[in-house]
Amino acid sequence: MSDAELPEQRDEAEPAVITPYRDGPLLVRGPFRLVDQDGREIEVSRRTVALCRCGKSKLRPLCDGTHKQAGFTAPSGAEDRSRPSPAA
Ligand code: FES
Repeated sequence: MSDAELPEQRDEAEPAVITPYRDGPLLVRGPFRLVDQDGREIEVSRRTVALCRCGKSKLRPLCDGTHKQAGFTAPSGAEDRSRPSPAA
């Protein structure tokens, strides 16, 4: 990257970062596009969005905070696949 590039040009080159929040949504920090499985654009007005992963949001695919009332739990990191699942 050259020193002559403007900061906004560098931002465009950076990939989106997706962070699973502990007991909460997936935070997506742009630049990104959000599309449904048919390729239709889902409008988002911000460069950072929270995607629901608990399935309880009334604004899916976006998080509306319902995960807290639902008691959703999930780690921030990858699940430990060596441990048996709670349903087992
Ligand atoms: S993760 Fe927040 S409502 Fe589902």
